[in-house]
Amino acid sequence: MQVNESKEFKPTIVAFCCNWCSYAGADLAGSGRLSYPADVKIIRVPCSCRVNPLFILRAFEKGADGVIMCGCHPGDCHYSTGNYYARRRMTMLFSMLDYMGIERERTRVEWVSAAEGAKFAATMNDFIETVTKLGENRKLRDLRCKK
Ligand code: FES
Repeated sequence: MQVNESKEFKPTIVAFCCNWCSYAGADLAGSGRLSYPADVKIIRVPCSCRVNPLFILRAFEKGADGVIMCGCHPGDCHYSTGNYYARRRMTMLFSMLDYMGIERERTRVEWVSAAEGAKFAATMNDFIETVTKLGENRKLRDLRCKK
């Protein structure tokens, strides 16, 4: 993962999107020409429950300034209860990140359906704005990954 080192800070955002809703929502945002910055690196996963909290820590270690996980709305998961497991895991991760002193606003969970392209774009724009205000994430970054 490349780290943005330009004078104007542009955060690197990793977005884990479930295949059935959020990724389709991102697709809809694209086909509807709704803009969100290209700094969002989307990682498509079969379901939000596929996102191990360690993936998020790994993303921070590799240079992400913010990580967002998007999945189907509760009750709409393609695998029926996957997002409930994901929600619980993320709650645990948020407490751990608090304990480690990582700003809470650097991670977010959002439920975005396949029909919510506008919500996807708005969420990404809002998240990027929040992370830009926080500045570069230095706490979990592995300095060996820095170029
Ligand atoms: Fe989307 Fe499970 S398939 S959250």
